[in-house]
Amino acid sequence: MKTQFNYDGVPVEALEGSMRDFRVLSDTDLVSRCDAFFNWQETRRHSGTWPFSRSTETGPAASCGVRDDRGNLVNGVNFASQDYLSLSSHPAVADAAREAIDVFGVHSAGSPALVGNTSTSVELERRIAEFLNMKEAILYPTGWAAGFGVLKGLVRSHDYIVMDALAHACLQTGAQAATRNVSLFRHLDNEHCRDRLVAIRKRDPKAGIMIVTEGLFSMDSDTPDIEGLQELAREFGATLMVDVAHDLGCLGEDGTGHIGIQDMLGKVDLVMGSFSKTFGSNGGFVATNSRAVKEYLRFYSPSCTFSNSLSPVQVATITKALDIVESDEGKQLRRALMNNVVSLRAQIRARGMDVYGDPSAIVAVKTGDEALARMTSRSLPELGLISNLVEYPAVGKGQARFRLQVMAGHTAQEITAAADRMEAAMKAGQQALETVTEPFEQRLAG
Ligand SMILES: Cc1ncc(COP(=O)(O)O)c(C=O)c1O
Repeated sequence: MKTQFNYDGVPVEALEGSMRDFRVLSDTDLVSRCDAFFNWQETRRHSGTWPFSRSTETGPAASCGVRDDRGNLVNGVNFASQDYLSLSSHPAVADAAREAIDVFGVHSAGSPALVGNTSTSVELERRIAEFLNMKEAILYPTGWAAGFGVLKGLVRSHDYIVMDALAHACLQTGAQAATRNVSLFRHLDNEHCRDRLVAIRKRDPKAGIMIVTEGLFSMDSDTPDIEGLQELAREFGATLMVDVAHDLGCLGEDGTGHIGIQDMLGKVDLVMGSFSKTFGSNGGFVATNSRAVKEYLRFYSPSCTFSNSLSPVQVATITKALDIVESDEGKQLRRALMNNVVSLRAQIRARGMDVYGDPSAIVAVKTGDEALARMTSRSLPELGLISNLVEYPAVGKGQARFRLQVMAGHTAQEITAAADRMEAAMKAGQQALETVTEPFEQRLAG
C-alpha cells in the first residue's frame, strides 16, 4: 500500500493497525510470513512510534538511561519499571544475593519435582504461605508460569473456567490450554459472574469450576469484590483463584494487598502471585490451604514440574525483600510509594489529563486514540520521560494509555517532572496530528 500522506513526517501506516492484525498468519511458510509484522513494526520503529523492546543501562533506577531498539540512548525519569518498593537496589537485598552465591552457587539443580529446591526455597514457600495466612505455597520460575500452571494443573477438559474478561495473559493462556469451557464475565461484575455460574450448573451439576480474577488489575488499577466472589464460589461449588501480582507487598498497611484490605487473608481458595513487581526478582507462587493441592501441582502443573526451580540467588533476593516488606521499613516504603502515587495522580489531573482506577503503583494516563498515543510516545524520549505505552489489543480499541509505574524511590521532583513531561508530550502529539505534511515517498525523494 502506498502512503498517501503523513503527519509531521510520520506515515499514516505507523498510526494505523495493531498487533492483533498479525496474530493469525496463514501463509504456508512459517518464517517468511513474519515479514508482514516486521514491515509494519519497521514503519513504526523508523518513525519513532514504536516505544517497545527498550533496555535500561543501569537497572530500574528512578532516573536512568534507556536504549531503544534502534540503539538510541535516552536519559530520563523512569516510570516504566515495576520495582514498586525500589527493593531491587536495596543494599541488604544485594548482600543477600551475594551471600547466596557464596553458599549455594548460581544454579538450581533441577525441577522442584526432583532435587531442584534448596533449604532456602523450602523456607521461602513457608514464609509466603505464612504472609498470606495460608497453609501452603509452591514456587514457580515466574509469575507467568504460576498463572498458567495453576489453571493447567488443576482444571481438566471437562471442567469450566469463569474468568474476569480483563484477566492477565498468563491466565487467559492457561485457561485456553486447560479447557474449551472458558467463559468470561464483564470486568469486576460479580452479577455477571453469577449468571455464568448459574448457566454452567444448569448444564453440568458436577463439573469442576474455577473462578479467576486479580487482586489489582494492572491496566485499569481497579479491584474486584473478592469476598463476593468467594461467596459465589461456595454457593456454586466452585474454586476461587486470585492473582495478586501487582498488589502483594506494596499495598495495604501490612503489604498483604487487596486480600488483606478486604479482610480475606487465609479465606481465598487459591492465591497466585509474582515476585517480579515488589520482590525485586523473577519468580512466582501459588498459595493454598491444602497440602494435597500443593503436592498435586508439583507433579501435574507443567510449568512447575518440567521447569528448573528458582535459582538460589532469586530465592535469597525474594526472601530478603519479604523480610523488608514485613518490617517497619516496608511500612515506610509503602507510605512513600502511596504519597508518590497520590501526588502523581493529582498532578496529572491538575494538568487536564485523566487517570484510570484507584490509587496504586500503576498510574495509567488516558490518551484514548491510538494515533494520538503513538504520536505522544514519539515525543516522550526527547522530553526525558520513560513510560510504557499500552494499546489495543492489550487494552480495548480506542483506550490507549500510558502506564506510569511509580516506585517508592521516586523523588517529589521526579513525580512533578513525570506530570510535566506527560502533558508536554500529549500536547506535542496533538499538534503533530494536526500537521499533515507531504507524501512520505515524496519527502524521501526530496
Ligand atoms: C497480573 C499479572 N499476573 C502475572 C504476571 C506475570 O508475572 P511475571 O512477570 O513474574 O512472569 C504479570 C506480569 O506482568 C501480571 O501483570
